[in-house]
Amino acid sequence: MTKRSAVTAAAMLGGLFGGVGLAHAEGDPEAGATVYRQCQACHVLDAEQNRVGPHLVGIFGREAGAVDGFNYSPAMANSGIVWDDETIAAYLADPRGYIPGNRMAFAGLRQEQQIADVIAYMREAQ
Ligand code: HEC
Repeated sequence: MTKRSAVTAAAMLGGLFGGVGLAHAEGDPEAGATVYRQCQACHVLDAEQNRVGPHLVGIFGREAGAVDGFNYSPAMANSGIVWDDETIAAYLADPRGYIPGNRMAFAGLRQEQQIADVIAYMREAQ
């Protein structure tokens, strides 16, 4: 095994067993559309329109708490998080644990595959 592949293997194991790096699982956008039904009562993905939650247009690369006119919790507004595959995966796995005090009334997605799928769907919708 080369040094490089050893590092990659270690990173993959970290992703599988560490609970972080969830986005390494291959996401299926079609399956993700079904998962996204759990989000759509609160989040619009294809228009800058807020519901119970802020719209998710341009979410990848966006700072947490950045939608003008949305009344974020201080916890979210001050989290310093930038949304990408990794941070969204960590948030969806455990919203309250990842950002204690945030106001998203959502228990989280238990399965790593569902998280990867919904992220793939959200990426396609951008
Ligand atoms: C019951 C309503 C509700 C559901 C369901 C919900 N969210 Fe949220 N979401 C919110 C609210 C409210 C916030 C803002 C939380 C705060 O300010 O503390 C939020 C914040 C977010 C943010 C951060 C947005 C930003 O501008 O920083 C992301 C990303 C997000 N939600 C994704 C999702 C995804 C993906 C799902 C489905 C798997 C989901 N949410 C389900 C209400 C919801």
